[in-house]
Amino acid sequence: MMNPRTLLEDKVDNYRWRLGQLELVPIVIGGMGVDISTTELALAACRLGGVGHISDAMVQHVSDRKYDTHFTKAKSEKHRATRDQIDKTTVKFDLGHLHQAQLNHVRHTMDRKRGPGAVFINVMEKLTMGAPGDTLRARLVGAMDGGIDGITLSAGLHISSLKLIEDHPRFRDVKIGPIVSSVRALKIFLKSATRLNRMPDYVVVEGPLAGGHLGFGEDWRNYDLHTIVTEVLAFLREENLAIPVLPAGGIFTGTDAAAFLRMGAAGVQVATRFTITEECGLPARVKQDYARAREEDLVVSGVSPTGYPIRLLSYSPALGSNIKPQCEAFGYLLDREGHCSYLDAYDATPVDAKGHKLPVQGKVCLCYHFSKFNCYTCGHYAYRLKDTTHRLADGRYQILPAAHVFRDYQFSTSHRVALPAPLEAPTAVAVNS
Ligand SMILES: Cc1cc2nc3c(=O)[nH]c(=O)nc-3n(C[C@H](O)[C@H](O)[C@H](O)COP(=O)(O)O)c2cc1C
Repeated sequence: MMNPRTLLEDKVDNYRWRLGQLELVPIVIGGMGVDISTTELALAACRLGGVGHISDAMVQHVSDRKYDTHFTKAKSEKHRATRDQIDKTTVKFDLGHLHQAQLNHVRHTMDRKRGPGAVFINVMEKLTMGAPGDTLRARLVGAMDGGIDGITLSAGLHISSLKLIEDHPRFRDVKIGPIVSSVRALKIFLKSATRLNRMPDYVVVEGPLAGGHLGFGEDWRNYDLHTIVTEVLAFLREENLAIPVLPAGGIFTGTDAAAFLRMGAAGVQVATRFTITEECGLPARVKQDYARAREEDLVVSGVSPTGYPIRLLSYSPALGSNIKPQCEAFGYLLDREGHCSYLDAYDATPVDAKGHKLPVQGKVCLCYHFSKFNCYTCGHYAYRLKDTTHRLADGRYQILPAAHVFRDYQFSTSHRVALPAPLEAPTAVAVNS
């Protein structure tokens, strides 16, 4: 047993994660859709010997924005007939386009990969896209064809996901790991993995303080990451399963991270601290909106049509919007029957005297608002972001290089957060409160 002083002096750099041939710095930057965890952010982690994620959320839109393709326009035009209808049963993705978009995103990333780390992709099951199995398969195959190092299966139990790709030549060589929030969810995943004799290469254990969608209900406050990780590690030990565990959600300092590594985790997955980095895909003004978050601005909300609670900032422009559903262009959350709960909420919203829709209550059009970076999802500790950087003379916060945040996680001790070299001389800093 270490004495408390030694615990505080422990650091992430004292540990390594052996994954196949790789010896990794045990820091994983989690997937942040839609293109918030960019190629550049993932590559920065990889260069420093860790793991970075890109995300395949709304990948046709991402491919259009970055690689000069026109998948969204083609889809929108093909389905123009339903634009003014609430029934979207006929709106489907072209699987060839979807595969190509994924291939573009992954190839453009992997072609630029340098350094000793790895690049993974986050693939969400809840993006049902009007044809859940087929569209998930197209995305998984596209990622493997594009040479991705690993696939993190998120937002769902992924009971059938492995089966979808068992005939792919890379099925046994690509790294695969699910995100779970309980031993129960892990057991469900392992059942199908065992049937295919394809055990996961890692498992991300995400607690209730994470960003994005949560694997908990409204009672998320009754759970904590430390307890869930302890249970998962005990379960794997009992079952004699050597699957690396990566805790995620609310790991804010290098010391938080080292504490999990000491208890037997292989690495940690972190995200929120990277939202105010140069490489992060959020627009500059949105990074400032994240940096200024106060504790009272954080909410866990039921507005996501996925059915999962989502943590976001209360001043997200998406909330209370009255945007017309954009399923013809997007439609990433349509279920098999062409249904999304935002469609119902929009349909039920009355119009004002001039015939304009009133703000839609209860649900948001996640596709539209994520495409515009209007949905400010973040981890619980987003309100501490302001403590990780400098306030500039004009009131803005200094944006950090991702390498600075990564190294801070790797080397810091005693819960210290290293501030970046200031952009301005300290005398020029005015406190505009
Ligand atoms: C802005 C943002 C977007 C996110 N988007 C996704 C996502 O698309 N899919 C997913 O599985 N997790 C998503 N997450 C969760 C992260 O990958 C990660 O597991 C978690 O946020 C780690 O906790 P931390 O943010 O407290 O460090 C997101 C997190 C943030 C902050």
